Amino acid sequence: MDKLITIDGPGGSGKGTIAKLLAAKLGWNILDSGALYRLIALISENIKNTDPDKIGLELKDRKIIFELVDDQYHLFFNGKDVSDHIRSEEIGTKASDLAHNQQIRNLIKTTQRSFYDPNIGLIADGRDMGSVVFPTAGIKIYLDATIEERAKRRQIQLKEKGLKVNMPNLISSLEERDLKDKNRKVSPLLIPEGAKVIDSTNLSTEEVVNIVMDLT
Ligand code: DC
Repeated sequence: MDKLITIDGPGGSGKGTIAKLLAAKLGWNILDSGALYRLIALISENIKNTDPDKIGLELKDRKIIFELVDDQYHLFFNGKDVSDHIRSEEIGTKASDLAHNQQIRNLIKTTQRSFYDPNIGLIADGRDMGSVVFPTAGIKIYLDATIEERAKRRQIQLKEKGLKVNMPNLISSLEERDLKDKNRKVSPLLIPEGAKVIDSTNLSTEEVVNIVMDLT
């Protein structure tokens, strides 16, 4: 698949920031697949049910759109901006739990693939974009950084959203999530075949973007 870049990696590795910058440079769309799992976690909280069939009913015929608002991609679910609701660490942890379920993953695989329009192009970020959802992507990236650096970045993101942050809790929640995402049986976080690995710990966002742009 030409005009398709996948970016996989652990939480806080900078996938979202890099995806946004690349999308702006190339004029392509973005798919933040983590936001979809977070949306499912939010729906599950709202209906107080984790049954994939029940969650599936809530998703049916609803529009899911990523749109730039004040230079940040927001997620609109059926016309409602749910971005602030899905960004807490609690929803992230719940999303990671639900992401173990094959039925949940199947539920949104078609939705994820529908974001790709070969005439426009797509930057897809997540945990299994290059391995499962878009295995034939033209360019695959695996973005990583040390846990300390990732926690620092998450802290800045959460603070910008006005959310309270406790650093030791943030580190342990990221570590716990990494462990779950890497060790689950279905679609674990791994380096996809053919992916370029970038350790962004000591790189600026521009440097990472340039490395990816050199591959296009
Ligand atoms: O990237 P994020 O923190 O917004 O993702 C939230 C959770 O969703 C993550 O811990 C695991 C899950 N996820 C997944 O299983 N597969 C994806 N492609 C993206 C996210």
